[in-house]
Amino acid sequence: MSIGILTSGGDCPGLNAVIRGAVIKGDRIHQVSFLGIRDGWRGLVEDDIVPLPRHDVRGISRAGGTILGTSRTNPFEHGGIERVREVMAARGMTGLIAIGGEGTLTAARRLADGGIPVVGVPKTIDNDLSATDYTFGFDTAVSIATESIDRLRTTAESHHRCMVVEVMGRHVGWIALHAGIAAGAHAILIPEVEVSIEQICGWVENARDRRRAPVIVVAEGFVPSGEEHLHAPRGLDAFGRPRLGGIGERLAPQIEAITGIETRAATLGHLQRGGVPSAYDRVLATRFGTAAVDAVVEKRWGTMVSLIGTDIELVDLHSATTVLKTVPLERWDEAAILFG
Ligand code: F6P
Repeated sequence: MSIGILTSGGDCPGLNAVIRGAVIKGDRIHQVSFLGIRDGWRGLVEDDIVPLPRHDVRGISRAGGTILGTSRTNPFEHGGIERVREVMAARGMTGLIAIGGEGTLTAARRLADGGIPVVGVPKTIDNDLSATDYTFGFDTAVSIATESIDRLRTTAESHHRCMVVEVMGRHVGWIALHAGIAAGAHAILIPEVEVSIEQICGWVENARDRRRAPVIVVAEGFVPSGEEHLHAPRGLDAFGRPRLGGIGERLAPQIEAITGIETRAATLGHLQRGGVPSAYDRVLATRFGTAAVDAVVEKRWGTMVSLIGTDIELVDLHSATTVLKTVPLERWDEAAILFG
């Protein structure tokens, strides 16, 4: 049996640990071999595929990025099911492990519906996939964001400034919520909750009045109340989704104009996705990898490995990709008690 494995969409700390877990268990327990598909769906539709023997994955679980490379190529814009079937047959590939986020797993679901033998592994720092309690990469991103906010706070305090820190989170505010709570932010702004600029300035002034340097954490997908559109001045990606980034830079001058407090913005951007995975993410990713190869050997096509409580289970790719896991209002309310 020969299994293809690919990583697709935005990269994420822990991808290499999934690959290593799958390849080692596949070799040791199931006697299957692996083919590494380069740059996600691009490598599959363009037949850019290399053998992935066990010695190639030695020691990679602590490495950031992905040894296979990634892209945001959408297979349905490059031959779709027919092309995927053709390349898999030519390569003697009997199954496929697709590691990715919402866009990748939606493509995997459509391929599975069309008869392609595929199993998904959920990946995203945003933690926005339903049907899994956590995705690997999220813990690392929250740690990096928390440390960054801690650092930005000390410079804000020295200069008696307000600091607006923008973190990733295109549809959901999980990174903002967790990092904001961990770092003791004076406000956390997330896509799920409408907040007006006046309310934000109220929290900023409260913190300033207590002689604190106000720290506002904002998720890139936040839309201030009264506005209709996401701040997405950089066009669309291959899945037709807006490229986000810049809401912090937009809010900072508004806060400064209303409150009179000198305000700076910092966008953490891809720093949150780079570098080594946390211990938690290495463990979760390794467990996902070993469970994914079991699912392939058992021909559980159209499923995704998932974390439920502390157990790894298989769920239907449909349930994982049709509804986003947003932050419940009560989780934000819990944090909001500490704002201002
Ligand atoms: O989907 C994960 C994510 O990290 C989003 O939070 C962010 O909007 C996007 O990727 C950025 O993607 P890119 O690397 O293509 O700019």
